[in-house]
Amino acid sequence: MSQQRVLTGITTSGSPHLGNYVGAIRPAIEASRSGEVESFFFLADYHALIKAQDPDLVHQSTLEIAAAWLALGLDTDRVTFYRQSDIPEIPELTWLLTCMTAKGLMNRAHAYKAAVQANIDGGEDDDTAINMGLFSYPILMAADILMFNAHKIPVGRDQIQHVEMARDIAQRFNHHYGEHFVLPAAQVDDDVAILQGLDGRKMSKSYGNTIPLFLTEKKLKKHINKIKTNLLEPGEPKDPDTSAVFQIWQAFASKDQSQQMRAEFANGIAWGEAKRQLFELVNEQLREPREKYLQLLENPAQVEAVLQQGAQKARQQSSALIAKVRGAVGIRPLG
Ligand code: TRP
Repeated sequence: MSQQRVLTGITTSGSPHLGNYVGAIRPAIEASRSGEVESFFFLADYHALIKAQDPDLVHQSTLEIAAAWLALGLDTDRVTFYRQSDIPEIPELTWLLTCMTAKGLMNRAHAYKAAVQANIDGGEDDDTAINMGLFSYPILMAADILMFNAHKIPVGRDQIQHVEMARDIAQRFNHHYGEHFVLPAAQVDDDVAILQGLDGRKMSKSYGNTIPLFLTEKKLKKHINKIKTNLLEPGEPKDPDTSAVFQIWQAFASKDQSQQMRAEFANGIAWGEAKRQLFELVNEQLREPREKYLQLLENPAQVEAVLQQGAQKARQQSSALIAKVRGAVGIRPLG
């Protein structure tokens, strides 16, 4: 059997944070180094437009996220790393799939349903502020996935339904036009940590509780000091398993270091001291990539060149696939 293909996209609507790093970037880079899979990673800038309609934000986020992956050691010779909008075959395939997608399937998408529900709860019309991008979002995502015949899609739990929809759409297309697409499956890794944010909820852009990945040392220290803790005094035993400080520690520490910190919690380490140690640990691991990242931000043309190379590599596949699929639906030269 040919090598398994892994593909995932990162929406370019904000700055990369520690949760992105621990939950997505680090495991993806590790998997790509193992050599056991063929990896496709891309910047989902078309997806960003659904929510982020500030051009400067989308543009800056694209640079920051690309620079973060490169600074953290993504080896672009081993993976295909590209920007969605550099692959014109993706919107083209999106349309071909749109015409094979039941509207009823899209009505059931969680993200869309949640937006409608919020309108109803707020006494608004069902459709207020909902654009067609949000409604069709899963079809664009299906095109991202099916374009490269990916098998495994590493995603967070909130995205499982979208991958299942991609599978449904592929099935329907294959049934009608012949076997063109691999049926993808979501891969949700339970070992990968979902970091808590400053307020103890899941670290997420939408909660505004993130610790950005590449802060200056001073600001990183400040953010770590803001992590919510309880009122236990130095000397009083503390519970590591309900503490965001410990949880972030664990995501960066070795097994031994985690054991040690567990013992320190039992011994009543002061919150200030635990946070100081957490800062040292995280800062040590981010110091080198941070320098690389700042260099790349100063040299956006260098990042652009890497993305252009990635697009060239990706388009070898996407242009071949789209030619086949266009032919299959009856869009081909007349004579
Ligand atoms: N929708 C995904 C998210 O918000 C990002 C994404 C876009 C994606 N296209 C994809 C993820 C294709 C996996 C595969 O997280």
